[in-house]
Amino acid sequence: MEYTVMLPAAGSGRRMGAGENKLFLPLAGKPILVRTLSVFQQDPDCTGIILAVRPDERDRIREMLADHGITKITAMPDGGGERQDSVRACVRAFIAAGGGDEAVVMVHDAARPFLSPRVIRELAETAQEHGAAIAAVPSKDTVKQVAAGVVQSTPDRSTVWLVQTPQAFRADLLAEAEEKALSEGFLGTDESMLVERLGHPVRVVESTYDNLKMTTKVDLAIGEALLERQEEKE
Ligand code: CTP
Ligand code: MG
Repeated sequence: MEYTVMLPAAGSGRRMGAGENKLFLPLAGKPILVRTLSVFQQDPDCTGIILAVRPDERDRIREMLADHGITKITAMPDGGGERQDSVRACVRAFIAAGGGDEAVVMVHDAARPFLSPRVIRELAETAQEHGAAIAAVPSKDTVKQVAAGVVQSTPDRSTVWLVQTPQAFRADLLAEAEEKALSEGFLGTDESMLVERLGHPVRVVESTYDNLKMTTKVDLAIGEALLERQEEKE
């Protein structure tokens, strides 16, 4: 199932504390951004990559793409102040380039380099059939809702899933969800929330626990260990 991927890459990496966009940090010698892009560069079902970037990083990223043979970029819109603004910039670039309503699009954090091709495939197929599908894993820990340091409730763990990206959608559904959220001043932490607000069911595809988002220094250490293990297997 063919798809276009939209990668928000316009963050600042505050929690990583590297003093620059964390996506430039090397993971076993290669920038995180390049590792994530390479997964889609190598996937024959991926027909285009839309990358949201910070205007002041555009030149550096262009150079990086050329150096690492990333050729599938079809648009590079300016990102915005919030992740949702960066994703909306990608959606608008997709429409401006004539992307069809029925096409499958996928949103994926540039900071998650360990996504699996099997999950990408299942997401694209499920989104094509049902409109919306997200990657998630069952929670290994018990989850509590807490307010002011006091437990309010404990959801049944068997119903709790931890949500990741990619999240895949029929293009018209994602576009409608993004524009509705903007006009109503709603800021979500993922695209699924915006689609849920339309009342459209969102399917869950079971992903893998190693699809980590490189958020703090400890994630980099785990990421390096995962890559070492992969190299041993090869
Ligand atoms: N992102 C973006 N535009 C923003 C904020 C985030 O495109 N205004 C992107 C990041 O580059 C990252 C993804 O969204 O690929 C997930 O966000 P997150 O992990 O929170 O990255 P940052 O916002 O860069 O990190 P932090 O929140 O620690 O500052
Ligand atoms: Mg952030």
